Amino acid sequence: MMRKQFAAANWKMNLTYQQAAELLKAVISADLELNENRVVLFAVPFPYLELANGSVLQKKYYFTAAQNCSNKKSGAFTGEVSAEMLKSLNVSYCLVGHSERREHFGETNEMLSEKVMICLTYGMTPVFCCGEPLQIREQNTQNDFVKKQLNDSLFPLSAQQLLKVVIAYEPVWAIGTGKTATNEQAQEMHSYIRSVLEEHFGREVSQKISILYGGSVKANNAKELFACGDVDGGLVGGASLNASDFIEIVRALK
Ligand code: PGA
Repeated sequence: MMRKQFAAANWKMNLTYQQAAELLKAVISADLELNENRVVLFAVPFPYLELANGSVLQKKYYFTAAQNCSNKKSGAFTGEVSAEMLKSLNVSYCLVGHSERREHFGETNEMLSEKVMICLTYGMTPVFCCGEPLQIREQNTQNDFVKKQLNDSLFPLSAQQLLKVVIAYEPVWAIGTGKTATNEQAQEMHSYIRSVLEEHFGREVSQKISILYGGSVKANNAKELFACGDVDGGLVGGASLNASDFIEIVRALK
């Protein structure tokens, strides 16, 4: 069975509007051989969503994504952006629980469970991020750590709802550090995540969920990482800010 493969650019808090426009143009004008099961996401800062939409909405296999949304529906939450607002802009994906949100903005597994749910309520696909920090990896307890993240934030979903979720495994020690997980480490965790999903949601569902790898994916390591059986593409930070690097990463998809 062919799972959907994703090359997802996570720009984080980078680029001016003009730089963003140029980067979008360069990536979208490249010949990337995309199809239903081989798609590109641009997770851009909120003020650039309309710009990105303008470039991708006529294109079939490119999609915009928000980098975050509120866990609240609407109301007096100054500075927050709701899932309903994003959906009304035709944004179809939203990152949920990126480790930088967990670390710098105090996002807990419980809040992220609410965010996943609210995305699904408004018909947006949450890209749920999980992954262990360095000291957990050093203690070799990463499986338990990631299992708890999945348990707290995704197990409240029904199997039908889980089928609408994309997962990104991003070991925190590999994000922005240039220290990529080895292919073995990535494959091992992805297959573990799938086994945890299988236990709770059944085999058929677990086999259908796309699990992206994130953490120092580069043009020169994407191909081998994406070739791993349980790795369904990548969530790319630093290298997504450079058009030719990101284009090469998209071409590395299965
Ligand atoms: P990186 O970031 O590719 O710069 O390591 C990945 C991410 O945080 O999504």
